Amino acid sequence: MPAAADPVVRELYQNHRYPAMSHPLADPAVTAVAARLGGLTTAPPQQARILEIGCASGHNLLPLARRWPASRCLGLDLTENAIADARQLAVAAGIGNVTFHAADLRDFDPGGEPFDFIIAHGFFSWVPDEAKLALFEFCRHHLAPSGIATISFNLAAGWVPRLPVVAMVRVLQECAGGDLLATLELLREATDPATPHGANVRSIIDDMLAKGPDILAFDDFGPVNDPWPFDRFVITAATAGLRWLGESDPAENLPSALGDASRAALGPLAASPLQAQLAADFVVGRTFRSGVLCRDDAPTQPGLTSDTVVDFSVRQGAVTPTSADPLVRALYQALAAVAPACVPMPEILAALPEANPAALARLVFDGITRGFIRPRIEPLRFDPQPPACPALNAFLLACASRRLPLVDVWHQPCGFPAAHYQVLAAMDGSRTHAELAALASSRCPELAFEPWLRHLAGRGMFMPD
Ligand SMILES: C[S@@+](CC[C@H](N)C(=O)[O-])C[C@H]1O[C@@H](n2cnc3c(N)ncnc32)[C@H](O)[C@@H]1O
Repeated sequence: MPAAADPVVRELYQNHRYPAMSHPLADPAVTAVAARLGGLTTAPPQQARILEIGCASGHNLLPLARRWPASRCLGLDLTENAIADARQLAVAAGIGNVTFHAADLRDFDPGGEPFDFIIAHGFFSWVPDEAKLALFEFCRHHLAPSGIATISFNLAAGWVPRLPVVAMVRVLQECAGGDLLATLELLREATDPATPHGANVRSIIDDMLAKGPDILAFDDFGPVNDPWPFDRFVITAATAGLRWLGESDPAENLPSALGDASRAALGPLAASPLQAQLAADFVVGRTFRSGVLCRDDAPTQPGLTSDTVVDFSVRQGAVTPTSADPLVRALYQALAAVAPACVPMPEILAALPEANPAALARLVFDGITRGFIRPRIEPLRFDPQPPACPALNAFLLACASRRLPLVDVWHQPCGFPAAHYQVLAAMDGSRTHAELAALASSRCPELAFEPWLRHLAGRGMFMPD
């Protein structure tokens, strides 16, 4: 991808606001676990130096800075408008341990100490090759010896089939005009879902339409849209002196969409991990990865054992495995008993005193790699019931008053219809449950207030400071 694409990238972000989002896979509480499973013990994120590259309006970095007041956070982005928004939001939310800098990564010298965590989410695939290589070089030079970089990118295996649709839409727009959505709809209507080709094109178009126009202009239809195969990413990173440790989500080290039969069929590739990964990406049509990388001289410890999980905190995943094994059942019952909390592993061990700790650790490790158990590097507890006078913290209140997505305790973004924001912005702790219910029924009569409030509480939105 030539560097000539750069002015178009700059112009897009300067003239169009990128939607505010947080990214759970970029959360250092999550990526520190991925690093540990890859053999590297990072600095504790509670007291770390954290940099986000391409931070846009700071919606990912600000909640992290707020969660860890003893950390020092820095956000970098090319786009001055976005950085101005980020600074304003930081002031409104009273977050003092974060600074934002408007610059091109290629001209940026952060000075000072190296970083324990570098985040570049939604950056790599949307910038020219020169900026991609600069990102790898930057991480190599500015990571601490035990630091990690979390870099997400779109994957050729599943993304490349989308490119002909993008090209066709551009051709149609050029000759017939029409906005993006109308052109996608036209192409959708023209395809015959009864043929394998038509069904495939339709499913791609449906996926694009579901993203909506706010995202599409930056996403499939961005000025640079450059998916890479996994091997090219890993080898280019290695050339710059970075080593791949694993996926941010350990349940995606082999794609979770890969069924048992496919796993078994790929078994003979076990001795060639890179080829096995490429084949798995191809088989499921994987479109996205979020990789954790370290310096090639990082002090990694080979010989991971399942006992490593004892250092983690764990919570129940969305799905629980079915098993007749009494130990498996006891483990998942113990996790359900503390849900939605994420508790230190020794607490789970203490809840199952009869169990063999090594066998239990192995089960937890398996559960983590299959997504049945969600690990974090630190525990997290909150009351899932709504308080008498619901109070959002200062960051969430600032988001509500600006109609930006709220961010839950798992770092997941949560957007709302405009009228709901009026109720959220009133959740400053000064109104009772009943007063808020009355406000909701006047501003958004269609809203089922009680279940909504319970839903918010269940996502930890009212966790006290
Ligand atoms: C697709 S947006 C992603 C924003 C955010 N990280 C997210 O995923 O929600 C890419 C961001 O990278 C920024 N960017 C692009 N090229 C850059 C460069 N060379 N240096 C610094 N920032 C850049 C853009 O201004 C934009 O805010």
